[in-house]
Amino acid sequence: MHDWREQYAQKIVTADEAVKHIQSGQRVVLGHACAAPPAIVSALAARAPELRNVEIDHMVVMEPLPFSQPGMERSFRLNGMFLGAPTRDHVRDGRATFTPCFFSEVPRLFRERILPIDAVILQVTPPDAEGYCSLGLSADFTLAATECAPMVLAQVNSLLPHTNGARIHLDRITAIVEADAPIPEVAVPKVGEVEMQIGRHVATLVEDGATLQIGIGALPEAALRCLGGKKDLGIHSEMFSDGVVALAEAGVITNRRKTLHADKFIATFLMGTRRLYDWAHNNPALEMHPVDYVNDPCVIGRHDRMVSLNSALQVDLYGQVNAEMIGHRQFSGVGGQVDFLRGASRSRGGRGIIALASTASRGTISRICATLDAGAAVTTSRQDVHFVVTEYGVAELRGKTLQQRAEALISIAHPDFRAGLWRALEA
Ligand code: COA
Repeated sequence: MHDWREQYAQKIVTADEAVKHIQSGQRVVLGHACAAPPAIVSALAARAPELRNVEIDHMVVMEPLPFSQPGMERSFRLNGMFLGAPTRDHVRDGRATFTPCFFSEVPRLFRERILPIDAVILQVTPPDAEGYCSLGLSADFTLAATECAPMVLAQVNSLLPHTNGARIHLDRITAIVEADAPIPEVAVPKVGEVEMQIGRHVATLVEDGATLQIGIGALPEAALRCLGGKKDLGIHSEMFSDGVVALAEAGVITNRRKTLHADKFIATFLMGTRRLYDWAHNNPALEMHPVDYVNDPCVIGRHDRMVSLNSALQVDLYGQVNAEMIGHRQFSGVGGQVDFLRGASRSRGGRGIIALASTASRGTISRICATLDAGAAVTTSRQDVHFVVTEYGVAELRGKTLQQRAEALISIAHPDFRAGLWRALEA
């Protein structure tokens, strides 16, 4: 029997025992997206009566968390660096907080003790022959947290896909909870005609041999469906989902012409359906790397023909992008948007794209607007935005004057709003 097997057996505890390591006033990092450990989360929440002021730092959360439910306020505080459906209302209601941060810089917050962390809770695969557990679908900041947290509480889940790249040795793990649990899935989104029209415009900006960063949701899904005629695309993406698997299986994505990590899919986390997870499991063509590497604009910029596709809530006539606030309400976060737009800008032949439907709220609001809403934050500055795409076409902003930018943006606004935008521009 190898040493690590004895070590493994000695570290096995119940979830209730594992969370006894956590004390009032500590800061705990929650494994990102699919790395959140459901058995440890439930056991920690059950300690609410005896704990005070435990901060839980997170980004993408796939299922509602107990920590910000009414009644938990004195025990736990969720602090998000990205918000989604399960978390944004809790920030609005004052039961959770939001900290703005580029995704690429989250590991530094932990390493440089700007946010000193006491523990990380995550799920991992069972160990391999050398005693290493794969982090599965999340390298991102989860790996950095395991490197600098004094306590690592890991749920070992044999249903988690084993991937290459991000792994942790048993030596680093404080307590192990063996508990298989299904991996949360995100359904393939419904794609409408507006998204398909945007996808067709985006496809005109993607050359054969391009490397893509493409996220999740109806717009990326539509764009991927419009790329079926391209050749030898590659992937270097913060994350990706099922649509990339479909294009890989169709032979469109080969990674052959990538100028960095040729022949490999590179990502920092994955989220999708079982189809994606089965594809990722032990896939030698996939490498998961930490977010401070994948999202580093200098690394991104080393890919020739890098195409970065991101979305937004509104874009003003300067080209300033708000991707995260609806009025005063924090809706999401910057994520990797600026990291990738800056990286694409450094890339030879690179293209950074912001794509959005021209209207919101059933056509009553123009998302191309004279000024951003009162209270909104600028997620991406006008200098960093090169292409804006709606269902009405492509506005190229780089090298354009203020007047030329505004005219280009009005030309892709919904026709019902163009006259009003012209009046605002001329006022
Ligand atoms: N004013 C008011 N409401 C608006 C609005 C606006 N300008 N723009 C959108 N909305 C509403 C929509 O109507 C929709 O409401 P509904 O669900 O009731 O119909 C809701 O806000 C969400 O809009 P939608 O366009 O469907 O959002 P999305 O799910 O496609 O997400 C972002 C868009 C911008 C929030 C998302 O892409 C994001 O978080 N981006 C930042 C992070 C990032 O870019 N990461 C990239 C690396 S992967």
